[in-house]
Amino acid sequence: DRKIKIAPSILSADFANFGQEIQAIEDQGCDWVHVDVMDGHFVPNLTFGPATCKAIRPHIKTVMDVHLMIAPVDPYIDAFAEAGADIITAHIEAGPHIHRTLQAIRATEKKAGLAINPGTPAEALAPVLDLVDLVCVMTVNPGFGGQKFIHPQIDKVRSLRAMIGDRPIHIEIDGGITPETAPLVAAAGADVLVAGSGVFSGGSVAKPEVYGKNIAAI
Ligand code: DX5
Ligand code: ZN
Repeated sequence: DRKIKIAPSILSADFANFGQEIQAIEDQGCDWVHVDVMDGHFVPNLTFGPATCKAIRPHIKTVMDVHLMIAPVDPYIDAFAEAGADIITAHIEAGPHIHRTLQAIRATEKKAGLAINPGTPAEALAPVLDLVDLVCVMTVNPGFGGQKFIHPQIDKVRSLRAMIGDRPIHIEIDGGITPETAPLVAAAGADVLVAGSGVFSGGSVAKPEVYGKNIAAI
């Protein structure tokens, strides 16, 4: 019995009203707030950096889950830690020295996350699993909200759950989560579901607990 956490991504929120948007999702019972940082280089889109993270931090009462889609990542880790991130997630594809990156995140005393793109095999994570608190499985190619869920990634979730065994490592799923796909990844071993467009639609906030209810039904 693994309690599923819902982490709405503010990538689909109104960027001029982060404070209100965060309050709305937290009032509706979300567990974490997922913050997507994009650099226009590692991914073909730009969002914001540590200054914005620092500005939104006081509005977050739960957990600030920062997903860094940037390369290089090492020069910015301390800045995101100082901005108040609780979890700092870097991509295994972001550079040749992921072990060093994870050590640098651990050195900040924040939780360390490791994200994996759809084209990277689960086995790539095995040598560094002891340095991570969270694995973020991308079920879309990172860069944009509102993309279609890539179904074959569910097998990767199952493999990672087996690789992780009893270790206290979260499996977070990012991309294309809807009330239909949520139960599939939960059954495969995920325990944190990121949802952007599914939660924020047309500037208004849909209830995050909808996802949790569907999972409870499986
Ligand atoms: C994609 C981001 C996701 C994104 C998910 O690069 O990492 O967090 O916001 O959005 P949806 O839920 O719309 O697929
Ligand atoms: Zn993300």
